[in-house]
Amino acid sequence: MSRLESFIRRMDAQRRLLNDAMADVADKDGIVLELGLGNGRTYDHLRENMPGRDIYVFEREVRAHPGCIPPDNRLYLGHVIEQLEKAAAELGPRAILVHSDVGNGDEPASIDFGRTILAPALRPLLAPGARILSDQPVPVEGALELEKPADMDPERYYIYRYLG
Ligand SMILES: C[S@@+](CC[C@H](N)C(=O)[O-])C[C@H]1O[C@@H](n2cnc3c(N)ncnc32)[C@H](O)[C@@H]1O
Repeated sequence: MSRLESFIRRMDAQRRLLNDAMADVADKDGIVLELGLGNGRTYDHLRENMPGRDIYVFEREVRAHPGCIPPDNRLYLGHVIEQLEKAAAELGPRAILVHSDVGNGDEPASIDFGRTILAPALRPLLAPGARILSDQPVPVEGALELEKPADMDPERYYIYRYLG
């Protein structure tokens, strides 16, 4: 598969799973966490499709498209783990949707980080019923991994429902 084809498939999977997750939580109260602003593409998609929903963004260095920068009072700037701890104290267990896209391309290190560091740091922020969508495994205690569409690369994205 060409790199262009692979990129398109990855973006298509991301959009489909984000749309599915947003539909899943549409009738539930709660805030949204976006881990990894990047250039702001997925943040922009979330805010456009969930008007009125509070979206908190975690990013160590903002380099997004100028039109996709969250307001200061919705931005946790710094290392994601330190900022999740801060957010847990400030926001409590209110997240109904989490989208995490902080993998760094170093697959073994990303997988280890997701399992052992990111998953426990996320848990205090989750509301029962929360949907988690992540580019790396985040097996939060109390969460169930959900099936992905059959035509999707099983190792591109991971989806969970937090049962509480
Ligand atoms: C792949 S990009 C996110 C792309 C974004 N979803 C989009 O659609 O534009 C990953 C982002 O995560 C941020 N990031 C990675 N590791 C981080 C960490 N440990 N703490 C805070 N931010 C981190 C990087 O700075 C980068 O901007």
